[in-house]
Amino acid sequence: MSVKVCETALEAISIIEDNEFIWTHSMAATPRILLDALAIHAKTRQNLTLLQLHTERAESLASPELFGHLRHRCYFSSTSTRPLMAIGEADYVPIFLSEIPKLFKSGEQPVDTAIIQVSPPDQHGICTMGISVEATNSACLAAKKIIAHINPKMPKTHGDSFIAYDRFHRVYWQEDELPSHPQGELDEVTQAIGKNVAQLINNGDCLQMGIGAIPDAVLACLTDRKDLGVHTEMFSDGLLELVDAGVITNRLKKTHPGKIVTGFAIGTQKLYDFVDSNPQVVFLDIGYVNDTSIIQRNDNVAAINSALQVDLSGQVCADSIGTSIYSGVGGQMDFIRGASLSKGGKAIIALPSTAKHGQLSRIVTTLDAGAGVVTTRAHVQYIVTEYGIANLRNKSLKERAKALIEISHPDFRDELTDDFHKTWGIHL
Ligand code: COA
Repeated sequence: MSVKVCETALEAISIIEDNEFIWTHSMAATPRILLDALAIHAKTRQNLTLLQLHTERAESLASPELFGHLRHRCYFSSTSTRPLMAIGEADYVPIFLSEIPKLFKSGEQPVDTAIIQVSPPDQHGICTMGISVEATNSACLAAKKIIAHINPKMPKTHGDSFIAYDRFHRVYWQEDELPSHPQGELDEVTQAIGKNVAQLINNGDCLQMGIGAIPDAVLACLTDRKDLGVHTEMFSDGLLELVDAGVITNRLKKTHPGKIVTGFAIGTQKLYDFVDSNPQVVFLDIGYVNDTSIIQRNDNVAAINSALQVDLSGQVCADSIGTSIYSGVGGQMDFIRGASLSKGGKAIIALPSTAKHGQLSRIVTTLDAGAGVVTTRAHVQYIVTEYGIANLRNKSLKERAKALIEISHPDFRDELTDDFHKTWGIHL
C-alpha cells in the first residue's frame, strides 16, 4: 500500500467519511494536532463516533458546533469529555479496560479509522506507538484506515508498540511536545496514606499502581525495599527513583522477569526519556497486561488503586460522584482481582478519608444514589486512609463497618456509627 504524506493535518484527516467509528490514540499519546484537524473536518461530516479512553488536550472536539456531527463514546472520561457527559452530549461506556481490545478484535465494536501518534520509522520501516499502547494496538489491527501523526518527540518503545509505516493510509509529520504531568508537592494527608500503604509492601512484591499523588507517595516510602517488580496498567515518574536506586529489579517476576510491563506511561519528559529505546520497559496490549490470568502468574502482586467513595459494607465507587461520571472503571477490577488471585497478593484501595476540604466523608454508610460500584464488596480487600488500614477480607458486615469507621475521619465517626445502626439495623 502506498502511504500518502500530507502537507497539513486537515488533509490527512479528510479521508474520514460520514457515519464512521473512529478510534483515537489516548492518554499522553493523544494525537492532538490530528484531533484539532478532526474538529474542523467533522463540521462537514455527519454521524461520526469518536471512540476513546482518557484523552489529553483535545478541547477543540468539545465544541458545541460539533453536536450532531461528532459524538464522543468514552470508555474513560477526560477533562474535555466530562462536561459533555454531564449534559448528555457524550456517552460513557462502563467496561473493564482489559475488555476493550476484545471489542475491536471480535468486531463487536467496528473501527473504521484509527488516528494515532507515533515515533518516526526506523531503518526497518517500523514506527512505535510510543508511550501508550493501551487499546490502540488492537484498534489499529481492526481499523480499515490508519492516520498517523509522526512526531519526532515520541519515544521509541518496546513491546506491542511496533507498527509498520506501510500500514498507514495517511501520515502527517510535525514535532510536538508531549503533555507533561510534573509531580506536585505531596500534602500531609497524601504522605500519611503513602506511609500506611507502604506498610503492606514487602521485599519482592510485584507492583501495580494508578495515576496520581497516592502512588507517588507510596513509592517515596519504598526506598529501603529490595527486588520489587512492576506489572502495571500505567506508570509515572514516581517509579524512576526506585529504578535508579536498584530497588526495582523485576528479578523475581515469573512473567517478563527483568522487565517493567505496562500499558502506558504518563509523566514528565524525564519519564519519556527513560522509556525511549529502553528494552527493560515493555508496553503491551492492555488486553494482556490487565488479564487476571496473566496478572496472577506473578507472586505477591500488590495492586494499589484509589476511590471516590467507599460504603460501610466495602463497596468501592471509583468512576462517578453520584450520577456524575468522573473517570471510568479502567483497570481497577482487573488488578484487584488479579492481585487477589496471585499467591501472596494484596488488593489495596487507598483514598483520603474526606473530600471538599474535609466537609464530606468519603467513607459513607451507603453510596450516593447513582454511584458506580467498581470494586464489589466481595472483591475488596484492604482499604487504606491517612488514619490506617482496614483489611475487609473474611469480615462480616458488622466487622467491616467497625474497621472502616476506625479509619474514617474522627469528625464523622459518631455519625457513621449511628447511621449504620439506623440503616442496617446492626449495633456496633
Ligand atoms: N464527593 C464529592 N466530591 C468528591 C468525592 C466525593 N465522595 N470524592 C472525591 N471528590 C472530588 C475531590 O474533591 C476532587 O475534586 P477537586 O478536583 O475539585 O479537588 C475530585 O473529586 C477528584 O478526587 P481525587 O481524590 O483527587 O481523585 P484522583 O485524581 O485521586 O482519582 C479516582 C481518584 C478514583 C477517580 C481514580 O483513581 C480513578 O479514576 N479510578 C478508576 C480507574 C482505576 O482505578 N484504574 C486503575 C489504575 S489507572
